[in-house]
Amino acid sequence: MSLDRFARASLAHLPTPLEPMANLSRLLGGPNLWVKRDDCTGLAMGGNKARQLEFYFGDALAQGADTVIITGAVQSNFVRQTAAACAKLGLACEIQLEHRVSNDTREYAASGNVLLDRLLGARIHYLPEGEDEQAADAALEAIADRVRSEGGRPYVIHLAPGHPPLGALGYVVAMEELLSQMAGRDLEFDAVVLPTGSAATHAGTLVGLRIQESSVRVIGACVRRERSLQVPRVLRQALATAELAGDPGIVAEDDVVVFDDWLGPGYGQATPEMKEAVTLAARQEGLLLDPVYTGKSMAALIGLARRGYFGGNANVLYLHTGGTPALFGYSSMLEDI
Ligand SMILES: Cc1ncc(COP(=O)(O)O)c(C=O)c1O
Repeated sequence: MSLDRFARASLAHLPTPLEPMANLSRLLGGPNLWVKRDDCTGLAMGGNKARQLEFYFGDALAQGADTVIITGAVQSNFVRQTAAACAKLGLACEIQLEHRVSNDTREYAASGNVLLDRLLGARIHYLPEGEDEQAADAALEAIADRVRSEGGRPYVIHLAPGHPPLGALGYVVAMEELLSQMAGRDLEFDAVVLPTGSAATHAGTLVGLRIQESSVRVIGACVRRERSLQVPRVLRQALATAELAGDPGIVAEDDVVVFDDWLGPGYGQATPEMKEAVTLAARQEGLLLDPVYTGKSMAALIGLARRGYFGGNANVLYLHTGGTPALFGYSSMLEDI
């Protein structure tokens, strides 16, 4: 596989560690759990978006952009890492924060990722809607028009599907890294569990594994929308990613595995299982998870293990996608742990 024709900016600390989760495995009585530490990608406190941004910023620089524009929830990790990449590469950053979560605490509005966005020098805009991806993208285009009218050269990272999923290529490449780490340890995984939101990580992981002829099952834990909406989204993004990577047809619908049993009432809303997962990961493994993405995907991993879904001797990989600063933005949600 060669993705050399895509421009790529160097932003992430790679390779990220692959570690056993011995205590959690023992506590659950199997399977054998491992963690891929993509919370350690660097770039202003790490996370999965650093890998995705390497392709977006490669494209932005190739196009001669001087400003990058992005949208996300108020406590978005994608937005925070974009602001960091802009600072590192000397570009201006305009970010749009959507009111996607009803949380009126001061720390949600001002701490965690928002504090870092400000520190990193991003110009912040707010969007009252939080569920309309087309409207969010249209508002980004309005910001881009303004930047252009002031003589700037904007680059927009869109939210809604329908644009080339450049970010997913970050996870296509990540699977080369993972497979070589597995080979180095003579380790085979039966499944990988990850959070599935925009689906860039899910699509890239699936396509990257299949291109390299690995049949590891990829299990997405819904963090944003229910399964009936997420499955077609993942499939669409996976097909587009496969095409972009030059291997159309490498994925099919029956390869898209998604659970929404641990989503709870919705995006950024607490569940008892999320709180248990955040607490267990911290106290058993010293791992910091966040309430929105990694807490729910870890809850899915724990819940599936307890159901006997994997089989006791399976090797299962948890992809830790980061989100650490959001812990502080959502700290009131975890007051009772
Ligand atoms: C910490 C974290 N994990 C997972 C995700 C979901 O990844 P994706 O949008 O690629 O589905 C996000 C998205 O913002 C995130 O910030």
